[in-house]
Amino acid sequence: MKVFYPALRPLLFRIDPERAVRLAISGLKLAPLSPRGANDPILASTVAGIGFPNPIGLAAGFDKNAEVPMQAAGLGFGFVEVGSLTPRPQVGNPLPRVFRLKDDEAIINRMGFPNEGIEKGVKRLRRMRFSHGSARTGVNVGANKDSEDRIADYEACITLAAPVADYLTVNISSPNTPGLRELQSKDALHELLSRCLIAREHREVPLFVKVAPDLTDRDIADIAEVVQETGVDGIICTNTTVSRAPDLRSSASSETGGLSGPPLREMALAVLKAFRQATGGRIPLVGVGGIASADDAYERIRAGASLVQLYTALVYEGPSLPKDMAEGLADHLRADGFSSVADAVGADAPKVAAP
Ligand SMILES: Cc1cc2nc3c(=O)[nH]c(=O)nc-3n(C[C@H](O)[C@H](O)[C@H](O)COP(=O)(O)O)c2cc1C
Repeated sequence: MKVFYPALRPLLFRIDPERAVRLAISGLKLAPLSPRGANDPILASTVAGIGFPNPIGLAAGFDKNAEVPMQAAGLGFGFVEVGSLTPRPQVGNPLPRVFRLKDDEAIINRMGFPNEGIEKGVKRLRRMRFSHGSARTGVNVGANKDSEDRIADYEACITLAAPVADYLTVNISSPNTPGLRELQSKDALHELLSRCLIAREHREVPLFVKVAPDLTDRDIADIAEVVQETGVDGIICTNTTVSRAPDLRSSASSETGGLSGPPLREMALAVLKAFRQATGGRIPLVGVGGIASADDAYERIRAGASLVQLYTALVYEGPSLPKDMAEGLADHLRADGFSSVADAVGADAPKVAAP
């Protein structure tokens, strides 16, 4: 595939981006279920009590309906986050709603959570539950666009997904559901997360919260405080950005929606560093946004990420990327004398005084 993808890419890029993902999912359905090759033991880690064979994950949004998590893991990911899933199925925003910014190797999407609904996703995961291999599956949940009680939507999804998920993600950072990101404000977040943790009940499923990159220092301080107060297990930094760097070169850069890929990299890294600083390394962080190589993954880990995720780079680099990144990351760890991923987490982060 490493050899074929550069030849295949121009053909794939002639197809509408959303249809290309549908095609990739159909292709993956035909792929073998077992992970390709063994993971290097140096890459194994335990985060929020869960064992991960390697720290490189597929971010939410690719496998929205939990159709191919095992096959995606077979590309070399240590974990796959499915969703976002909402209580009721919904069609999302009008087409077209995903745009490639080829000259920037980026994507803008305004999909608005099209999905088949949590029940269907959970049903699929239940059928797969015992044939995962060692890769982990996270279930990312959101609220329906027309919901009258958004917090109740998250609770309903969590109750249903907890028995089939290795971890759960409360996604409050999609820019494409109007008003959703207001749940990141302090009081709303406190209520949301407290109720989500109750919905999870006594199941030992870690609960992560996924935040936007478009946050002020005050927002970050507030979110870090609420996460620690409520006992949420981790923070995924970050979702796509509504901002536009002035140096974007592609004509599609003026489309409305969330921007992902390299133009998001520095912003997502800065937010991760700020959360590391604000939480003092007490809460596991997942780094996502513009990660496209082993170097990027290693930088994010040294900045404080226990795990990393990617989506956009898979579109531009092709299916051999996760395996190549895992190998490159193992090389970096050994070259710098670390004996595990955990040893390298936060190696570059400034020391924070104990509270
Ligand atoms: C087409 C597309 C759809 C996405 N859908 C979701 C989603 O449903 N839920 C979510 O939490 N994030 C979603 N994301 C955001 C990604 O999970 C990720 O946070 C973001 O793209 C930054 O990572 P990247 O630069 O590696 O793509 C989506 C991203 C893209 C490109």
